[in-house]
Amino acid sequence: MKFLKKSMFIFYSGILLIFLNVCKSGRETKMKYDIYTLKNANGLEAKITNYGGILMSLMVPDRNGQFADIVLGYDTVEEYVKNNPYFGVIVGRYANRIAKGKFTLDGEEYILAKNNGENHLHGGIKGFGAVKWNAEKIEGPNGKSLKLTYLSKDGEEGYPGNLSVAVVYTLTDDNELKIDYSATTDKTTIVNLTNHSYFNLAGQGEGDILGHILMINADRFTPINRNFIPTGELRPVRGTPFDFTKPTAIGARINQKNEQLIFGNGYDHNWVLNKKDAELSLAARVYEPRTGRVMEVYTTEPGIQFYTGNFLDGSIKGKGGKVYKFRYGFCLETQHFPDSPNKPDFPSVVLKPGEKYTQTTIYKFLIK
Ligand code: GLA
Repeated sequence: MKFLKKSMFIFYSGILLIFLNVCKSGRETKMKYDIYTLKNANGLEAKITNYGGILMSLMVPDRNGQFADIVLGYDTVEEYVKNNPYFGVIVGRYANRIAKGKFTLDGEEYILAKNNGENHLHGGIKGFGAVKWNAEKIEGPNGKSLKLTYLSKDGEEGYPGNLSVAVVYTLTDDNELKIDYSATTDKTTIVNLTNHSYFNLAGQGEGDILGHILMINADRFTPINRNFIPTGELRPVRGTPFDFTKPTAIGARINQKNEQLIFGNGYDHNWVLNKKDAELSLAARVYEPRTGRVMEVYTTEPGIQFYTGNFLDGSIKGKGGKVYKFRYGFCLETQHFPDSPNKPDFPSVVLKPGEKYTQTTIYKFLIK
């Protein structure tokens, strides 16, 4: 009898524990992260989560006033937590690659994670696109904003210095999604922040992006080796498939037998923007002929990584059950050049105590 009572007790406690755990995990997935919505006077709408600062959706009209979501991603935050090839994230502390995951600052060598073959990519194992940010909605001079802040601790992912970061997303009534980044440190460090949205101006999941017409305001690009690391050369684009100074279809030359296109499996390169210093200037313009949607990119950064979704292979099911196949999205990541910490001739990415890192990028939407 006693034995029966005891086993009943154990059995029911077990059930209760399982029940409590299910409630807890349900609560965690529901409560952990929030989604914020920004809307402008023309009906454009951006959804951003405090998980990774991810731009989850961006509703933009076509030439007939039909709205579509033009960024790839998932319907729920949980799916981003599970598996995200950087859809929509804020990338940091260092966007793009650092060769062999190491660099030297003030005579000291710092070792970072090798999370991309032998290289460090997009801030490491848990970059800024996979951490929880503090979020606050603010009413700025240019429209409604979401301010995200994050403190990246000294030593996080191997980087030196406590880095205090702020990213402000603003949706203006001029149909611009403006992203203002800033950061300060208490120890000399390196910083390179960007956003990694994958765009398809025909609508997310609506085919490949090869028919989009692209202009990049750059006379040079940084050629790479087989491991995607810049060789250090700033090579003229003239006469090569990398010349987008005149609007050209993304797919027009992408399959040419060109060494750089073979190394990148398509476009996955950084362009050296034509500009003076850190002025906010036009970096790129993309036009989607079927819908008439146009996106212009303005930035204060010296470079832009143009990536044609060459690692998408149809294995990801995104928003609304859409399957993202090869080259179904493109990225225009405004940034400092890849591997700058190991390339003394590239513009510096060093941030010292007392200085302020800033970068502003605008994605502006028009119709044609
Ligand atoms: C960047 C890189 C690419 C790839 C994507 C994410 O754009 O340059 O090589 O890693 O991010 O898949």
